[in-house]
Amino acid sequence: MLKDGIMIDIRNVTKTYGIGGQTVKAVDKVSFAMGTGEIVSIIGHSGSGKTTLLSLVGGLTKPDSGSVVIDGKDIWSMDDDSLSELRNRKISFIFQFSSLVPTLTALENIMLPTTFGNYGKDVEGYARELLGLVGLADKADSYPSQLSGGQQRRVAVARAFINRPEVVLADEPTGDLDEETEREVIELFKRMNRERKTAFLLVTHSSELAGQAGRQLRMSSGSVLPFINTVSHRER
Ligand SMILES: Nc1ncnc2c1ncn2[C@@H]1O[C@H](COP(=O)(O)OP(=O)(O)OP(=O)(O)O)[C@@H](O)[C@H]1O
Ligand SMILES: [Mg+2]
Repeated sequence: MLKDGIMIDIRNVTKTYGIGGQTVKAVDKVSFAMGTGEIVSIIGHSGSGKTTLLSLVGGLTKPDSGSVVIDGKDIWSMDDDSLSELRNRKISFIFQFSSLVPTLTALENIMLPTTFGNYGKDVEGYARELLGLVGLADKADSYPSQLSGGQQRRVAVARAFINRPEVVLADEPTGDLDEETEREVIELFKRMNRERKTAFLLVTHSSELAGQAGRQLRMSSGSVLPFINTVSHRER
């Protein structure tokens, strides 16, 4: 069910990659919509198109065909500046692979998205608060190379909230975290969803994280299908 109307609406979107004469339909005629404050999860085999879908939904990749409508606007008919502005204001990514800038500290990495716009006075205070919320208050001045993989991941999670986005597109955000740390990240997501109505599109194989979703989807060979959980609850 959609809450408060539709925020992101992708229609009949296809993205094909071609390498050396071979083509792969990474995303094949996918339509789906997300509402304000909605939490949606996606699972699917490696190579099924999950990362490509997130990047289409967030306007990082232009589809070959189909439309991506965010807040009623067809984003690929906007000029570059308006699209960048829309993305910066409304959308955040937590990428599948490390995306921190190696020459910036944890705190600076979190503040980086605010360089391009007016985000109010106390950006640093909020960045420190977010760092605390992912359990890394003492790592503000550490560089990515001085952090463990899971700590780097948590910095990327914290960074996703600095611009107070309306939707977070997250690619295996707890993939390399232990259960307890994963639970902290889930608490942060739930809090942002509750307090700010932040929507989440979560690519995840964690049943714990997917359990937060109001709607669970599965990708298979570029198509999006409803996910029917066949694993018995007795096993949990
Ligand atoms: N930049 C690219 N150039 C060429 N092919 C690509 C590119 N990105 C993705 N692909 C291909 O598109 C398909 C979907 O890739 P995608 O990264 O979306 O899968 P995924 O579901 O995220 O997989 P994983 O679970 O391994 O992260 C794959 O066959 C992949 O090889
Ligand atoms: Mg992927």
